Amino acid sequence: MIFNTALYAALAIFSIGLIFKVFTWFRYSLGVDGKDIPFSGRVAAAIRGVFSTLFSSKILILIRVFIFEVLLQSRTFKQSVPRWVMHMLIFGGFMLLLVLHALEIPVTSRLFPDYASTLNPFLLIRNLSLAMVLTGLGIAFYRRHRSKTGRLFSHAMDHYLLILLAVIMISGLLLEGSKIVSYKRYQNMMEDYGDVEGGAEAKALESFWVAKFGVASPNVKGPFDEATLSQGKQLHETNCAACHSRPQWAFLSYGVSRGIKPLATVLDRLNIPLVLWYIHFLTCFIGLAYLPFSKMFHIVTSPLSLLVNAVMDNERSDPANIATRQIMELDACTHCGTCNERCSVAVAFEEIPNSNILPSEKMAAVKALASGKKLDENDLKRLQEGIYLCTNCYRCTEVCPVGINLQELWFNVREKLIQEGYPELLTLSPLSFYRGLRRDRIPKAQFRESASQIEKAIANECPSIDTNDRIDKNDMDKAFKEKLAKSSEGGSFVYCFTCMTCTSACPVCRNYENPPEALGLVPHQIIRAAALGLPDMVYRSNMLWRCLGCYQCQDSCPQGVRLTDIFYELKNLATERLRDKLSKP
Ligand code: HEC
Ligand code: SF4
Ligand code: SF4
Ligand code: SF4
Ligand code: SF4
Repeated sequence: MIFNTALYAALAIFSIGLIFKVFTWFRYSLGVDGKDIPFSGRVAAAIRGVFSTLFSSKILILIRVFIFEVLLQSRTFKQSVPRWVMHMLIFGGFMLLLVLHALEIPVTSRLFPDYASTLNPFLLIRNLSLAMVLTGLGIAFYRRHRSKTGRLFSHAMDHYLLILLAVIMISGLLLEGSKIVSYKRYQNMMEDYGDVEGGAEAKALESFWVAKFGVASPNVKGPFDEATLSQGKQLHETNCAACHSRPQWAFLSYGVSRGIKPLATVLDRLNIPLVLWYIHFLTCFIGLAYLPFSKMFHIVTSPLSLLVNAVMDNERSDPANIATRQIMELDACTHCGTCNERCSVAVAFEEIPNSNILPSEKMAAVKALASGKKLDENDLKRLQEGIYLCTNCYRCTEVCPVGINLQELWFNVREKLIQEGYPELLTLSPLSFYRGLRRDRIPKAQFRESASQIEKAIANECPSIDTNDRIDKNDMDKAFKEKLAKSSEGGSFVYCFTCMTCTSACPVCRNYENPPEALGLVPHQIIRAAALGLPDMVYRSNMLWRCLGCYQCQDSCPQGVRLTDIFYELKNLATERLRDKLSKP
């Protein structure tokens, strides 16, 4: 009764969770794709996409990906063999336990008509699967705590999940162990199957079970003589052997049963096997209900992500499906940290204590952002910083074992932040290279909007100086000069003698009929303005932000002024000064 109610409740929560998750995949979007496509359009596009893929040659790709990437986890294997071993142990063991144990009634007993959980090979395989999972988890635990790979943080949720799994497995193991020694169980079985005549036969069978099957009997004690045992063996073969292999095959449960044998009578009296049975099943049901909300949901989403990414491409796929895939992928992340190991900007995390610099750690905030949750000021700033530092280098996407297209994700998160009115200084500069490369994917107004927001912010922050007047001494900023001169590169501005070679060499200047009109200050003027200590003038100049970083000016300067390096320093100083002003007005 309780069992069934709990099972149905768990199944109901599981289904509601699953439906809710799938609903969000079609409901939410990030960035430029599918922003204005309604829910029904997204669902229809997905159905069309699935059918056109299944009835095309792409089905072969799906089969290949399913075998190699999903079942054999070739991506993880390429990254790290120990991690692959660990994951295969957990994955393989878990699947075996699921099919042979949790689904024994609907699956195993149909496939194998002679199935009995107490009979080999099932008895052995069940323990073997458990041993696989435990070994895998042991390696995972060791790797996480000993070799701090991937600068990974553990979330509280990860811990709850581990605790739940541990309770399920330990209670299961104790349950099996306590059943092996249980005399009550033995008596029940005897009532059902024990066709024996008289006390002597019953005693012989019982002796045999005590000696060979580890039952803790209060009545008979070893050592037993050969005659009793062989009589017991015969009775066993006619009555019990059809369903029972020796429990020693279940090496883990049997080991546990030896450990608890001295307590067997007490355990039996307190009905502990039943208690353990309840604990085991209830925690399994809790796990089932919790599955769609936990990281374990990746057993559904990771294969989906791998398959979908193998057959979709950004140029030809329906934007509605790109949006849907992107949200689904957020659920596929296993928080494994492989991306962090390869991330080009992860080193910055050593200097800037913002975990959102690491790709795996951005995920939580990105999920919240996608769901339309309001991030608080601080979380948003941290995400913004993480996203803006990302160079879109593709390295994380290449290694993600579940095939998430991270590069696409970061691009869209950045656009989403810009849409919501969080301007980005870098949009002024070719440093936002990747955004420029993909400008045809961004609505025109949105592409420009961010830049004009920034221009406004700079104009507000840095008052213009009328260069026709003499420059007032009060405008000169000594602190700024000192900051710039901190490094030997930055300090080289002092050697400039205004020969203008740099400006003549600059390809950006050459691009304009009247460079000062388009660019404000040209390269040599920026150096002079810096030397005079006029930061506002420098920051307002378009030249600083249009500089390509080509180093031609620096290469041609006869005085060894490191112009390009100075321009980087100046951009950094501008960013530092404007950072707080750039949050949403
Ligand atoms: C029709 C198959 C069948 C027969 C015959 C059978 N058993 Fe069992 N027995 C089982 C199953 C299945 C379990 C496990 C039940 C469970 O999971 O609670 C079990 C469990 C037990 C247990 C508890 C230990 C354990 O591993 O779970 C004992 C002890 C036991 N049987 C003794 C006997 C004895 C003694 C006989 C012969 C008189 C016998 N059984 C005959 C199917 C059978
Ligand atoms: S994004 Fe991919 S590589 Fe990074 S933590 Fe998630 S699953 Fe692992
Ligand atoms: S694309 Fe961004 S997050 Fe990914 S590895 Fe490169 S810098 Fe890191
Ligand atoms: S080339 Fe060198 S010395 Fe000449 S103006 Fe430019 S920075 Fe100054
Ligand atoms: S580094 Fe910038 S300023 Fe120098 S030449 Fe190249 S584009 Fe011009």
